[in-house]
Amino acid sequence: MKIKILFICLGNICRSPAAEGVMKALVHDAERDEEFYIDSAGIGGWHVGQHPDPRMVQAGKRRGYVFNSRARQITKTDFEDFDYILAMDEDNIQELRHKAPEYTDKIKLLADYITVHKDAKVVPDPYYGDDYDFDYALDLIEDACQGLLGTL
Ligand code: 4NP
Repeated sequence: MKIKILFICLGNICRSPAAEGVMKALVHDAERDEEFYIDSAGIGGWHVGQHPDPRMVQAGKRRGYVFNSRARQITKTDFEDFDYILAMDEDNIQELRHKAPEYTDKIKLLADYITVHKDAKVVPDPYYGDDYDFDYALDLIEDACQGLLGTL
């Protein structure tokens, strides 16, 4: 049985596709691809079908990642299917708990797995920010995904 991880953000075009791409790369580098199924989705459906935001694609490219998912909205069955549903911020968590109160145990903040940037409690939304905000989000995502993989 694979460990199934679903990364969640608001739009599924900035933070969660980056987390999906980073986690896939870390798992691949660890030669553990067969152990995991990794995906991402959005709370909202505004960007369904879209590629990740070009600003996040570029920020990832600078670090050697390829972010090439297509945006989708979380579904009811995702809550059954996935073992870990990892949200970027408190707003995401509240929405997820509201949508599926019976699955609260699976719903956590990705930032809970941070080991280096310990002051960061969430991965803030870079959408209305600049390059710095995208790089910072990626710093936290890399930190947390490394921490997460270390626990699995
Ligand atoms: P994400 O960023 O949740 O990290 O994908 C956002 C993307 C789009 C919007 C907000 C945040 N939006 O308002 O359209």
